[in-house]
Amino acid sequence: MSDLATTLTRHLAAAFAAEGLDPALGAVKRSDRPDLAPFQCNGAMAAGKAAGKPPRTVAEVVASRLAGVPEIASVEVAGPGFLNIALTDACLAARAQAVADDPRCGATPVAAPRRVIVDYGGPNVAKPMHVGHLRASIIGESIKRLFRFRGDEVWGDAHFGDWGFQMGLLIADFEERNGAIEGDDLSPLALEKLRGVTLEDLQSLYPEAAARAKEDEAFRDRARKATARLQSGNAAYRKIWAFYRDLSMAAQKEDFRALGVDFDLWKGEADVDPLIPGMVEDLRGKGLLVEDQGAQVVHVAGGETKKRKLEDGTVIDAPFPPPLLVVSSEGSAMYGTTDLATIVERAKDFSFDLCLYVVDQRQGDHFEQVFRAAALAGYAPRAALEHVGFGTMNGPDGKPFKTRAGGVLRLADLIEMAREKARERLRADEIGSDFSAEEFEDVAHKVGIAALKFADLANFRGTSYVFDLDRFMSFEGKTGPYLLYQSVRIKSILRKADEAGFKAGPIAISHPNERALTLALDAFDAALAAAYEKRAPHFLAEHAFSLAQAFSGFYTNCPILPEKEEAVRASRLALAQATLKQLARTLDLLGLEAPARM
Ligand code: ARG
Repeated sequence: MSDLATTLTRHLAAAFAAEGLDPALGAVKRSDRPDLAPFQCNGAMAAGKAAGKPPRTVAEVVASRLAGVPEIASVEVAGPGFLNIALTDACLAARAQAVADDPRCGATPVAAPRRVIVDYGGPNVAKPMHVGHLRASIIGESIKRLFRFRGDEVWGDAHFGDWGFQMGLLIADFEERNGAIEGDDLSPLALEKLRGVTLEDLQSLYPEAAARAKEDEAFRDRARKATARLQSGNAAYRKIWAFYRDLSMAAQKEDFRALGVDFDLWKGEADVDPLIPGMVEDLRGKGLLVEDQGAQVVHVAGGETKKRKLEDGTVIDAPFPPPLLVVSSEGSAMYGTTDLATIVERAKDFSFDLCLYVVDQRQGDHFEQVFRAAALAGYAPRAALEHVGFGTMNGPDGKPFKTRAGGVLRLADLIEMAREKARERLRADEIGSDFSAEEFEDVAHKVGIAALKFADLANFRGTSYVFDLDRFMSFEGKTGPYLLYQSVRIKSILRKADEAGFKAGPIAISHPNERALTLALDAFDAALAAAYEKRAPHFLAEHAFSLAQAFSGFYTNCPILPEKEEAVRASRLALAQATLKQLARTLDLLGLEAPARM
């Protein structure tokens, strides 16, 4: 069953058409003035203009044509010609019942399912995951779940950063410590040294090597050459690479698990290495690859330019986007090379219709280069490739979040901070004081993660927000913990009803808060559609919050367990069940997990 606005639009479109007017004018939406009526149609304004009649007159004839429609309780013409529409309680009850009976909680699937890849998370091997990967993981996970729920076939891919310069840095560092590697194999001593490296070591090795490369040109050069030698297949280098990759990937998988983030494909940049030579040949054959200062590039600008400052200070109009670097002067594959080859691979293995890259919006130019190159080479149509960018999580200074010491915060530490804050919060409210230590920890974990995730998803993804754990963790207001709490509360109401032997029954609507709750339940499908179209889970976050609030109002004013009249109680129980089911579904689409009790 379609949602109420869609049902009304059908009737209004017919009424406009019957007046010889464009049926598209009959579009009905949620009212800006819900105090006057829940729905409105503004089509009479444009219709009046087109027909050269006063809009109010048009609105009045349309209203009179709607007089016999059984679902409509009232149509009022307001102001210059707005149509304010209210529905009958019977119509609301039928909609609430349909939502309650629907395993999809009132959500319609997409008409034409697509094959979709969601590329998100994207941690770099040898670097611990940090707060920058938090948003990519949280938003990407939600988008993956949303697309899948709407009926698309979806693959989430972590796309580990495991093939670039950072690996060359680590290998160069290894050689500096343990001697240069001459041949194609590691000496037993080198192998022993390698196996002695721990995750802790790795986490300081990389930042040190990266800092050194900035200062020390000889070291930087060595790292560049090491990158090229690794990519050309040197087996000894490959061993070092594999060891470091496995070590850090294991830790990153732990972080993902803690966040409730899971991938269908745990692939990395290195996985497309075998495809690169063929792709380079193909690009050359198509006349797209050109030599530029010893490197091989693809020109992707279509006539646009952007001002660019040269080293000597002169400003020129440079082609924009700049050329995509495919092979460096050392002969290595670059960030864009592996991204381009990954498109080739995904097209071959998944014949995707759409590939979404959930990555920091500051990488916008990079993706524009890659997508244009892919389109030029015929690997994927431009419209099938989309960068879903997001802003940063900032510190109180308004700049991307840093630790007090000024470093980047490790994701694992951030998660522990959230958990600790959740423990404090729960203890302060004496929640879980009678739980086993294990259950208490589980609840604290779920509350902590929900706080982090919801705070992130509650903003439009393009907007940056300020990290404020106290606010994220509040049990009041638009927060993850509030939503978990509401869902647990409904569970407990239903449990008590069950214990009392009360059964849910057919839904009837008569109280204003029952109407409001039905309208909230009805809004799910539109929220899903908006989140899907805009690739923006915050529409779902909004929905979860307004549903929880509508339930709260309903529960305060419409007694369930104390209600004497059996039919009313049964109807309200059914409404509570439908709310819990839809709320749980929405929270799941956001990646939040509610405990059984708290
Ligand atoms: N590893 C990259 C980073 O940390 C993110 C990868 C994003 N995905 C992609 N296909 N480029 O910046």
